[in-house]
Amino acid sequence: MAQIGTDLDKTKTILQNGGLVAVPTETVYGLAGNALDPEVAAKIFSAKNRPSFDPLIVHVLSVERAADYVEELPEKAKRLTEHFWPGPLTILLKRKPIIPDLVTSGLDTVAIRVPAHQLTRSLLEVLDFPLAAPSANPFGYVSPTSAEHVNQQLGDRVDYILDGGECLVGIESTIVSFENEVPRVLRLGGLSVEDIEDCIGDVEVNIHSSSKPDAPGMLKSHYAPEKAIVLVDEFNPQSLNDFSQIGALMFSNYAENIPQENQFLMSPEGDMNEAARRLFSGLRLLDQRKDIHTIVTDFVPNEGLGRAINDRIKRATAKS
Ligand code: TXA
Ligand code: MG
Repeated sequence: MAQIGTDLDKTKTILQNGGLVAVPTETVYGLAGNALDPEVAAKIFSAKNRPSFDPLIVHVLSVERAADYVEELPEKAKRLTEHFWPGPLTILLKRKPIIPDLVTSGLDTVAIRVPAHQLTRSLLEVLDFPLAAPSANPFGYVSPTSAEHVNQQLGDRVDYILDGGECLVGIESTIVSFENEVPRVLRLGGLSVEDIEDCIGDVEVNIHSSSKPDAPGMLKSHYAPEKAIVLVDEFNPQSLNDFSQIGALMFSNYAENIPQENQFLMSPEGDMNEAARRLFSGLRLLDQRKDIHTIVTDFVPNEGLGRAINDRIKRATAKS
């Protein structure tokens, strides 16, 4: 288990010496290291068991710092960053050579974002390098939204966990590519498509899922708990009178037949932001309940952050 705390000096020293630290962001916790050091990038991939074809996001303090690592900021990207940075937005831009190949898995673009969590911003202020940080979970599993979540799974693989409390957004950043004339959303996340389009006009949403993606990070089966998880509509109980070992992850209303003490409502009030914030912790809670062997879930209304939640539910319930 790793030490958990809020010691920025200690965190800085570990990172300067090539170590790994879990850091809070407003979306999910990241597994962070010096983004300019290829050996550190290699450590990150191996700590997560992550295939090397799946590139990392580089975290910087400001749009000015981002300019140190990317060739140019197209007009629409500039407008988006002015509106939504710091925040749950990641943009893909042509990288400068200072970014190691391993960080981008050899691609000529780099994913870059300015996180909003104050503790991690204070950390970035005292570092003279950016932080490469994928979500701090083993590859394929649900992302962590608290320091405790990180400790449970990667506690023996990080040198320290910087504790910033529960993540306020709760779902990963939205990824937007500017390679084409029309910007493309490659991952739905904590910034809604509606908000993006209000700012820069129409975008394409291109989040194809497949088991061998052409753009990385779009694996069909992902964000999955260890237990069987199925959609309500596809759930076939062996016997209609034994629901005691079935759990349910629902939006605002309980599922029929399943005991209420086995159910987790993402937002009893039907608030989509609250649902996003609680999605992953609910999934973990049910995954850890020893008396539950199957989790049933259902899609939420497909608007705002609901689209990102539904994307995660789709991938969690997909057969690998
Ligand atoms: O909210 C977040 O984005 C969190 C926090 C920690 O910042 N990070 C995160 O990182 O979710 P990760 O590694 O779990 O997901 C990053 C995604 C991956 O699916 C990866 O394939 C994609 O970003 N990605 C990174 N660089 C890319 C690139 N150059 N081209 C296409 N996709 C890229
Ligand atoms: Mg991830």
